[in-house]
Amino acid sequence: MFGRRKGLVGLDIGSSAVKAVELASAGKSYRVVAYASEAMAPDSIVDGAIIDGAGVADTIRRVFDRLGTKTKDVAASLAGNAVIVKKISLPQMTEAELAESIKWEAEQYIPFDIQDVHLDHQVVPGGEAAAPNSMDVLLVAAKKEKIADYTGVIAQAGRVPVVVDVDAFAIQNAFEANYDADPGTVTALMNMGASAININIVSGPATIFTRDVPIGGNAYTEAIQREFNLTFDRAEQVKRGAGAGDERADEIEAVLRAVSDNVLLEIQRTFDFYRSTAASDRLDRVMLCGGGARVRGFADALADRFGLPVEPLDPFRRIAFDAPAFGVDAVETAPVAVVAVGLALRRAGDR
Ligand SMILES: Nc1ncnc2c1ncn2[C@@H]1O[C@H](COP(=O)(O)OP(=O)(O)OP(=O)(O)O)[C@@H](O)[C@H]1O
Ligand SMILES: [Mg+2]
Repeated sequence: MFGRRKGLVGLDIGSSAVKAVELASAGKSYRVVAYASEAMAPDSIVDGAIIDGAGVADTIRRVFDRLGTKTKDVAASLAGNAVIVKKISLPQMTEAELAESIKWEAEQYIPFDIQDVHLDHQVVPGGEAAAPNSMDVLLVAAKKEKIADYTGVIAQAGRVPVVVDVDAFAIQNAFEANYDADPGTVTALMNMGASAININIVSGPATIFTRDVPIGGNAYTEAIQREFNLTFDRAEQVKRGAGAGDERADEIEAVLRAVSDNVLLEIQRTFDFYRSTAASDRLDRVMLCGGGARVRGFADALADRFGLPVEPLDPFRRIAFDAPAFGVDAVETAPVAVVAVGLALRRAGDR
């Protein structure tokens, strides 16, 4: 019933774990035909930069061993300071004129040497451009060096990188496949991983603001490590609430709360920045995902702080996923699979 799509694996090379998803489709419905994840050794990827290339390639190879797919083509993504996404307003022009002029426009907005970046752009559908004869364009600049690092480790693992996307857009892609994009609603898609939070504010189908904040689940683990003098692994367990050690529950709660306060402050700064720069300052709700966001009390604290409804972004709301068949737990997997699902929805040749 489900024809295999022209095989492509969505590969999320996260700093704490690599996640891989392959989908099959029948018409507009999808189902997961392969899912696997593998933990990444700490400090292999720092601030989105691949530090230990051989180690990362090895982790990717292990993910594919588990995945058990013949598919070689991969869609991967970049995040953090490797990418800059800016919404700019330009005079109305044709796509051909835009393609011609985008490089010159970009020079004003991108703080890197234009020679060192790969540029891409997209006209924002139904953009709320201020002037009548103008249009909103999303400008994306990715450092060529970072693209080469990511495609390099994928090739080293014996796979073929055919799409290089951006985390924030992969999340949006997974969101759109699973929810009806209500044009009147402004949603902050928020993915809190181990080392960063990808924030993508969307209005209907259009991105109006995006930013990666360099703080995430590791901040909690590291605080617990320091406070109770534990190894990273033990601190991870304590953070997740497993195992009754010497640490007192109320002390652990206090540490988690203190880190959440810092994280919320960073999110506040991002929201303030959005409100001061975007054409609209509206924000209706938060859709939350990423493993880091599962930390106790975080979702509630987020809702309290901003007075917004916070809902989990479930990448399997409309995509059939038989978690036990892949030896994983559905509740644990859904939040960390969002980027990989968004990537798996791409087709070769997509930008
Ligand atoms: N039940 C849980 N409670 C608290 N934290 C959790 C839980 N499960 C996972 N995490 C945390 O989630 C993080 C991993 O999430 P995720 O896989 O989304 O990150 P990543 O993609 O590897 O990181 P990044 O995108 O920042 O490079 C880790 O910090 C981990 O400790
Ligand atoms: Mg991630």
